[in-house]
Amino acid sequence: MPTRPYVIDEMISAKSIAARIENLAREISDTFKGTDKLVVVGLLRGSFVFIADLVRELDLPIEVDFLEATSYGDSTESSREVKIMKDLRGKIGGRDVLLVEDIVDTGFTLKHVVGMLNARKPAHMKTIALLNKQSRREVDVTADWIGFEIPDEFVVGYGIDFAQRNRNLPFIGKVRFTEE
Ligand code: PRP
Repeated sequence: MPTRPYVIDEMISAKSIAARIENLAREISDTFKGTDKLVVVGLLRGSFVFIADLVRELDLPIEVDFLEATSYGDSTESSREVKIMKDLRGKIGGRDVLLVEDIVDTGFTLKHVVGMLNARKPAHMKTIALLNKQSRREVDVTADWIGFEIPDEFVVGYGIDFAQRNRNLPFIGKVRFTEE
């Protein structure tokens, strides 16, 4: 639970997110056209809202699987050590994989998970992140599709938490502390 008082200012509206997802889904559907072996993998917990909206816009036969990784816990600082809390249920060897992330910040999480999944020899793997904070990158990794490039602000909502709260906001908001 957050310990300092704060308010949340809207940064990206639910409507803008929906419009962007429609476009991204069209591009992804084109890229994977003809495949009948795509597994869309949601990286929990943060991606649960994004993947739910994204898969419903995909014009493809897909399967859905989940992986849970954490490096922040309740902290606002990355531990730079990615822990896998839950692995995939299915095998991805020889399959097409789309890995779905909510946000790429330092890049440690995406890099670690991509390495781990590539070791299982998927036929193709692509990645998508709703948000990208390029200015915060510490390791060399980029998602193939990015919803929005954002500045170095503390964001919450649409799946993203502040000490586990605010994941249920329908928009992306910016945290503003009201006391020092
Ligand atoms: C958050 C977020 C990303 C990751 C991005 O996960 O969901 O997976 O951090 O940060 P990075 O690029 O600096 O690694 P977190 O560890 O907070 O777990 P959660 O998804 O369960 O909130």
